[in-house]
Amino acid sequence: MTTADRDIIDYVIHTTLDAAQTWPWCREPLTKGSAQAFVLQHILRNRFYSAVMRPAWMSRCPDLAIVRKTIAQMRQELVYDDAIQAAHTKILWQLGRNIGLTDEQMGAARPEPLVALFFSSLEDLARNRHWLVGWLGSSIDEFLGGNLAGHNFHADNWMRDLGLSEEQAFFWRYHEKADLDHAGEAVWEPIRKHATSEAVRNEIEQGLVVALEAHRCFYEGIARLGERLDRNGQK
Ligand SMILES: [Fe+2]
Repeated sequence: MTTADRDIIDYVIHTTLDAAQTWPWCREPLTKGSAQAFVLQHILRNRFYSAVMRPAWMSRCPDLAIVRKTIAQMRQELVYDDAIQAAHTKILWQLGRNIGLTDEQMGAARPEPLVALFFSSLEDLARNRHWLVGWLGSSIDEFLGGNLAGHNFHADNWMRDLGLSEEQAFFWRYHEKADLDHAGEAVWEPIRKHATSEAVRNEIEQGLVVALEAHRCFYEGIARLGERLDRNGQK
């Protein structure tokens, strides 16, 4: 089977899983510093996804079902998720407090240089490439949380390494289920309908590898910040 014959979603899933095997942070034991570093950078990323990246690719998306679903997700992230009667931002900040960060520290978070590169790269993909590339770029990490074995996007890892209780790790326990509805083979099914030409398929393949390298930068940035925090005493 040549690459051109391979099912596009199968290609996305396997390329993403292969790439993520070698990213820093994702499957390394958590330290207090590395956990704090993730929360400080993910606070910025969470806002970036919903305030910058998703609007950028959605503005060119002709599939209204995907647009509606994505706007509903943005509401859950930043405004209100009916299932938990809170925005995900709220439970993310609570996770930060549970690992020793103050609201002042989280409010003052700035992107690490490599995380800033991640933001610029993904914004460029979302604005300038096919909208499917933008959609994938803003959902591949949600896919990985549920599909890459041993990933730190699981409550059990935070409880095991940091001594958090089930309640303190709620952000992760909730996202173990919620993210399954945001990415993965079933959610990405419409890609098959829209990636009908070789040109679009090529755009997805070329955009995906850039998005994956950008994610490597994101996690490398977190790993470096985590090391600094552990060395200098956590913020
Ligand atoms: Fe969320």
